[in-house]
Amino acid sequence: QEISERLKIPRSRIYRIASFYEAMSLRPIGKHKVSVCMGTACQVRGSGMILDRTESKLKIKQGGTTPDMRFTLKRVNCLGCCAIGPVMVVDDDYHGRVTSDRVERIIKKYD
Ligand code: FES
Repeated sequence: QEISERLKIPRSRIYRIASFYEAMSLRPIGKHKVSVCMGTACQVRGSGMILDRTESKLKIKQGGTTPDMRFTLKRVNCLGCCAIGPVMVVDDDYHGRVTSDRVERIIKKYD
């Protein structure tokens, strides 16, 4: 509403842009953004288990944010570094060849 008023642009146009771009969110997101790649190359190397383990560790489903607002978890498609898949990104840190056993240690670094 505020953006619409300040820029004198209809709210519908603001909403269309905000809901189109992945980098924008209409809901508050956590301090740390965790992305698990579910692109084909990562999937064949087990990223499904990585996502399951991350959901279990954070106690949220993908797309969700922890109640303490520390983590938001997203599944994403190819991050462009398939050779090191499966890939998990926390904030700007890329973690390659992630195993389900490493998930806990990776998350703990940001806790
Ligand atoms: S498929 Fe995961 S980085 Fe390309």
